[in-house]
Amino acid sequence: MEETSFISSSAQAAVPFLTKWQAPSNIALIKYWGKTEPQIPKNPSLSFTLSSSVTTTEVDFTPNPSGAFQFEFYFEGKLKPDFHPKLNSFFERISPFIPWIRDYALKINSQNSFPHSSGIASSASAMAALSLCLMDRERKLDATVSDETFFQKASFLARLGSGSAARSIQGPVTLWGKNTIQSSASDLYATPFGIDLHPVFTSYQDTILLVDKGSKPVSSSQGHQLMYNHPFAEQRFIQATTHLTDLVSLMKSGDLEGFIRIVETEALSLHAMMMTSNPYFILMQPNTLAIIQKVWDFRTATKMPLCFTLDAGANVHLLYPEANKEAIRIFIASELAVHCEGGQYLFDQVGSGAKKV
Ligand code: PMV
Repeated sequence: MEETSFISSSAQAAVPFLTKWQAPSNIALIKYWGKTEPQIPKNPSLSFTLSSSVTTTEVDFTPNPSGAFQFEFYFEGKLKPDFHPKLNSFFERISPFIPWIRDYALKINSQNSFPHSSGIASSASAMAALSLCLMDRERKLDATVSDETFFQKASFLARLGSGSAARSIQGPVTLWGKNTIQSSASDLYATPFGIDLHPVFTSYQDTILLVDKGSKPVSSSQGHQLMYNHPFAEQRFIQATTHLTDLVSLMKSGDLEGFIRIVETEALSLHAMMMTSNPYFILMQPNTLAIIQKVWDFRTATKMPLCFTLDAGANVHLLYPEANKEAIRIFIASELAVHCEGGQYLFDQVGSGAKKV
C-alpha cells in the first residue's frame, strides 16, 4: 500500500466529539534499530503485545472556527507543556493524512498504568492510544472505514510518532516491516500475527525488572541515528531478517529452546550495536548483567524455559510460559528483586491489543 492511500478525503463539517482509548506497550523479540525517513525500518521486527502496561488517553475534539489547529496536553490530570514539542512534530507529520484535524482544538488527557519514571518506554503505548482516538474521530466522519483500515491507519499514524508504536495497536504478536514470510506485511504499519501461533505464546508471561527507573543517557532516536555509518549495520539488518524467518517457524511449532536462542541473541545484538556505535555507549548496568547470569544459571539448573530480552535501557524483561509461572515468580522474588531499583518489578503478559474504554 502507498502512503497516499492513507490521506483522508473527508470534507464533513467539524462537530464536537469525545473518545477514550487504551493501548498497550509492547516488547520486541526481533528488534527494530536503524531507520530511514519517515520512520521506515531498516529491518522487520516482531513483538509481543502486552496486557497490563497500558496508556489510556481521552481526546476532547472541539470545533475551532479559526482554522488554526491547537491542542493542550494533560498527563495524569496536570497540564504538561513540556510534551508539546514532541506532540507538535507528531501532529505536523500526520496532518497531511488527517487534514480534518485543522478544524479542531484538542484537549488530550493521558495516563499510564505503570509507574511514571519506571524506565519503561511509554511512547509506544502513548502514541498508539492517541492515534486510535484520532481514528475514532475519522471513522465518525466516514462510516465506510472497515475495522481493518481503522487499525492499519491507527498503526500508520502511531508509527509516525514513534516507530515501535506501530506495533502497539493489535495483538497478541505483531509484525512490522516488509519481509518474505508475510507478503501482506508493510513498512508503513504493523499487522497482527497470531493465526497459527503455538498456544504457549498466547499466554506468555513478561515480568519487567526495573533495574534503573531514571531516564536513559542516550535516547532511542539518537541510537537509531548512530546506525548510519555503523560498521556492522548491514550485517545486523541481515541478521534480524534471518532471525525473523527462524523465529516465526519456531513460534508456530512451539520450540522453546529455539525461541530462547533467538530472543536472547536479538537482545544482545541490539546492545552490541550500541557498544560499537560511534560514539559508543552502554545502556546495560551491572545489575542487568547480574540478572542475565542468574537467569542462565537458573535455566541450566531447572531446565525451565526462562529467558530475557532487553529494550533500549537497563531494565530486563523476563519471558516464560504461564505453566512455569509459580516457580519462576518464587525465583524472581528470592534472587532477582535484589537487583531492581527499590526492589520493584511488574508482572505482565501477552495481550490482545488496544480497546475503546
Ligand atoms: O520506537 P523507537 O524509536 O523508540 O525505537 C524502539 C527501539 C527498541 O525498543 C530498542 C526496539 C523495538 O523494536 O522496540
